[in-house]
Amino acid sequence: MKKRVLSGMQPSGRLHIGNLVGALQNWVRLQDEYECYYFVADWHALTSQYADTSMIRDYVEDLIMNWLSAGLDPERSTIFIQSHVPEHAVLHVLLSMITPLGWLERVPTYKEKQFEMKDKDLNTYGFLGYPLLQSADILIYKANYVPVGIDQVSHLELTREICRRFNNFYGRVFPEPEALLTEFPKVTGLDGRKMSKSYNNCIYLSDPPEVVEQKIRTMTTDPQRIRRTDPGEPEKSPVFQLHKIFSSKAEQDEVAEGCRTARIGCIDCKKVLIKNIFRVLEPIWQKRNSLKERPEVLREVISSGAERARRVASETIDEVVRAIRLYT
Ligand code: TRP
Repeated sequence: MKKRVLSGMQPSGRLHIGNLVGALQNWVRLQDEYECYYFVADWHALTSQYADTSMIRDYVEDLIMNWLSAGLDPERSTIFIQSHVPEHAVLHVLLSMITPLGWLERVPTYKEKQFEMKDKDLNTYGFLGYPLLQSADILIYKANYVPVGIDQVSHLELTREICRRFNNFYGRVFPEPEALLTEFPKVTGLDGRKMSKSYNNCIYLSDPPEVVEQKIRTMTTDPQRIRRTDPGEPEKSPVFQLHKIFSSKAEQDEVAEGCRTARIGCIDCKKVLIKNIFRVLEPIWQKRNSLKERPEVLREVISSGAERARRVASETIDEVVRAIRLYT
C-alpha cells in the first residue's frame, strides 16, 4: 500500500516561478512514490478575501491549468477543488467541538497575518479557524505526509495535536500526518526581494514568452555597474540569484567571471538566463496551449477529481460519525 500525500494551494494569486520550483515541481515528483491528493483551497482563500471574491474563480482556473501543465497527472493524482467536497466542512465542524480556543489563538500565523493584512478585517470566526479547516483537509484523507513550506509547520503541529485529541476521545481513526518540508532557497523576484505577488516582482507561469523575456531584460542588476565597461559584482544582482536556480554551475561561473571582469554586459548575462528559464517554461507553455484548446479536459479533471475525493472523504465521515457514536 502506497502512503498518502496531500497538499493544497490557496487561489489567492496567479502561480509564479517561485511557486513552481518551491512547491509544484516537488508535488510532481511525489506522484512517482505516493498516492497523491492535490486540491485548490478555495474556502481558505475566502477566510481573508471574503469582501472581494471577484478574482477567486480565475485564480482557481489558473492553478489547475498550471498544475496540469507542469506535470500533475490526473490519472495518478486526485486533483480537486475543496468546495466541491463538502465533507471537509463536516469534519471541520466536528473537529471544532474538541478544539480549545487557545490552541487556535496560539498559532503564530493568526496574529502574523492579521498584522500583515491590516487592510482587511480578519477578526472573524472563519479566519481563526483557518488552521483547523486545514486539519480537516488533511485528516479527512488520512494523509501520511503533507508537503509544505516552513511557514505551514505550525498548522501541521496543530493538525497532529487535534488528531491525537480526537483519537483519545473516540478511538483511533486518524493516522498522525507528518510535514514533508520542502527545502528550497527562496526565489528572488525581479527587484531582488523575495518573489511575491504582493511585491509585484513575479514571473508568472501564465506570462507569455515575450513578457517573460521583457521582464528579465528590464531587471535591475548590480547598481554600481553603470557603464558596460564597469566591472560588476554578481552577488549584488538579482539576475545572478536567478542563475543560481535556473543555470548550470558552469554557466553560473561563466557569467560571474564575465561580470567581474566586465568581459560581458548585463544583457549578455540576461540572455543566458532567458534561455534557461525558457527551457523550463516551454514544455509548460506547450501543455497549457493545448489545454486552452480543449476546455472540456479541465472540466473533466475537476469533476472526476471531486468524485474520487468525495468517495474517500465520505468514507472517513462515516467512520468518524460512528466513532463519535452519533445516531445513524
Ligand atoms: N494553508 C496552505 C497555504 O496557504 C494551503 C492549504 C490549505 C493546505 N489546506 C491545506 C496545505 C492542507 C496543505 C494541506 O499554503
